[in-house]
Amino acid sequence: MIKRVDDFRLKLGSKELVPIMIGAMGVDISIAELALTAARLGGIGHISDAMVHIVADRHYKTHFVRDKLRKYKYNIPNPDKSQIQFDPGQLAEATKLHVGRTMESKQGEGLIFINCMEKLTMNAPLETLRVRLRTAMDAGIDGITLSAGLHLGSLALVQDHPRFRDVRFGIIVSSLRALQLFLRKGARLNRLPDYIVVEGPLAGGHLGFGMDWAEYDLKTIVGDILRYLAHEDMDIPVIPAGGIFTGTDAVEFLEAGASAVQVATRFTITEESGLPARVKQEYFKAHEDEIEVNLVSPTGYPMRMLKKCPAIGSGSRPNCEAYGYLLDGSGNCSYKDAYYREMEKNPDLKTISIKDKTCLCTHMRNYECWTCGHTTYRLKDTSRRLPDGTYKLLTAEHVFRDYQFSTEHRIALPEE
Ligand SMILES: Cc1cc2nc3c(=O)[nH]c(=O)nc-3n(C[C@H](O)[C@H](O)[C@H](O)COP(=O)(O)O)c2cc1C
Repeated sequence: MIKRVDDFRLKLGSKELVPIMIGAMGVDISIAELALTAARLGGIGHISDAMVHIVADRHYKTHFVRDKLRKYKYNIPNPDKSQIQFDPGQLAEATKLHVGRTMESKQGEGLIFINCMEKLTMNAPLETLRVRLRTAMDAGIDGITLSAGLHLGSLALVQDHPRFRDVRFGIIVSSLRALQLFLRKGARLNRLPDYIVVEGPLAGGHLGFGMDWAEYDLKTIVGDILRYLAHEDMDIPVIPAGGIFTGTDAVEFLEAGASAVQVATRFTITEESGLPARVKQEYFKAHEDEIEVNLVSPTGYPMRMLKKCPAIGSGSRPNCEAYGYLLDGSGNCSYKDAYYREMEKNPDLKTISIKDKTCLCTHMRNYECWTCGHTTYRLKDTSRRLPDGTYKLLTAEHVFRDYQFSTEHRIALPEE
């Protein structure tokens, strides 16, 4: 008999879930509404804690960004950004609002997790990560997915938290080697991850590969990891991610031993995605040759995005006084360096263009960095065109159920 995703269940402790996890899409793309839909339908949804002050201001009418800018305004002309610090109290308040309000609205049997990127260094990497993790745990989050980094010290930051063994912890890895390093650290705290997301080279956002990403493939990495876990007698659910576009793609992984799949790209164009309507149309329209992996992110990780997004080549002034999420522990950011380098070279120009790096804070904030998965060019096949030529947005429920029930790589189009 032909299997569907719904013939499988993800077991997490005592919970049995529909094995579909919607991956985090920062900043403010996988918003609460999207995560809540996944939970209502019995799966897992993600919110992200990236740039949480901006997210809180947008949804809960707070003024965290304005207040920070006011405090550090004096420093704007100064290329040295080392003094710009996040106030731990405000970071906790913003996280509490974001997580608490989302969890209050949760319905159904599914779960809501938060994605915490280690590369969001915020000019005080350990201290800010500690506040982010602990506050999310205080505010009732069901699980935390550790991403964008090896997270070798992250679990230790929360080992004395009363929910340390109750919150589900997961790690995103792109290789067996990265997983082994994380497991070794976890073993010292007697705390293995509750799930492992294996992200392949076709995913959206930052990639855990070099610019040779095309030489890797998700199935091989998942196979390596499943074999290793079986050999070590470790029963940890493995959740592949990256390029899983149809229910049938998902079933292939589930039949090969995965416990669930993590998907994101197909939800970028749903009504519940935080992207502005005009940007959703850009995702729909994209062709394969309009998507690239480049190195413009100041994190140093390759990132996939639409080539024509406004973030690429922009020379906007670094806005670390208001944002500053990518300042490393010494107050540096490679975009900031690129900006002042170009300014020095072209002192008379009013506007400059910077090709090698982008101000991720400003452009993610403004939805101008159109990061996307490799399969974005297939989104046009998942919907219908309206009389005005635009594509009809789908509901997240429609896409979720399509993954859950479809067979033979079929994609259910929305009703006319
Ligand atoms: C627009 C977009 C933004 C993303 N942002 C993040 C992020 O902030 N953190 C993260 O860990 N993964 C991020 N991802 C990766 C997804 O969570 C997911 O693992 C991956 O994209 C799944 O592959 P798919 O998009 O081919 O389904 C993002 C993906 C997309 C498409």
